[in-house]
Amino acid sequence: MNEKHVKRWDAAAATFDFFTMGIERRYGGYKRELFSKAQGRVMIVAAGTGLDFKYFPAGLDITAIDFSPKMVSKAKQKAEGYNGRLEVMVADVMNLEFEDASFDTVATACTFCSVPDPVAGLREVRRVLKPGGKLLMFEHVRAGNLLLGAMMDVMALATSFSGPGLNRRTADNIRKAGFKITREYNIYLDVVKLFEASH
Ligand SMILES: C[S@@+](CC[C@H](N)C(=O)[O-])C[C@H]1O[C@@H](n2cnc3c(N)ncnc32)[C@H](O)[C@@H]1O
Repeated sequence: MNEKHVKRWDAAAATFDFFTMGIERRYGGYKRELFSKAQGRVMIVAAGTGLDFKYFPAGLDITAIDFSPKMVSKAKQKAEGYNGRLEVMVADVMNLEFEDASFDTVATACTFCSVPDPVAGLREVRRVLKPGGKLLMFEHVRAGNLLLGAMMDVMALATSFSGPGLNRRTADNIRKAGFKITREYNIYLDVVKLFEASH
């Protein structure tokens, strides 16, 4: 686990819900629609403070992970409000201790902009997902437009010490990890997106 990255997210945990209030208001409905497709044994990757738990159908068997202990401690409080089994634990998506083909669904939001090696993380996700299982992702990505994409590259460089990568080519990363994208839906330009993928 990369201590520098963990510390950065630990530091963000206390104020995370306050600073993401706008994102929740604007995009919560899209997440609810996406995560309503979760079924069977579910893993939530990089759960943060657990803001997304409310978007999952009741009655599921969910394991939520995050590599930041401070995020996990906040998420554990929100997990108490979930009507089903929801266990929250500290784990790094780039090095999961679950056996191959353990989950029917893996769900995640605003994660692969932050994971230090996104392809390694997505390969681990694919390993623990059952063949026939579903990957559900809500992500912001690098714009395809030449000018906007270049601006995002500059912004990503300028903010690389402090926050998530603004210029991740997440669709390419999903494919590089071996997944087949079955749905790619643009929410805001081609920057905020939903992805569904399978083995
Ligand atoms: C932008 S926050 C998103 C949190 C949550 N998914 C949400 O949308 O509210 C990114 C989260 O990814 C977690 N994270 C980053 N890299 C990770 C890794 N390698 N393994 C597990 N969690 C990671 C951070 O600790 C942080 O909680």
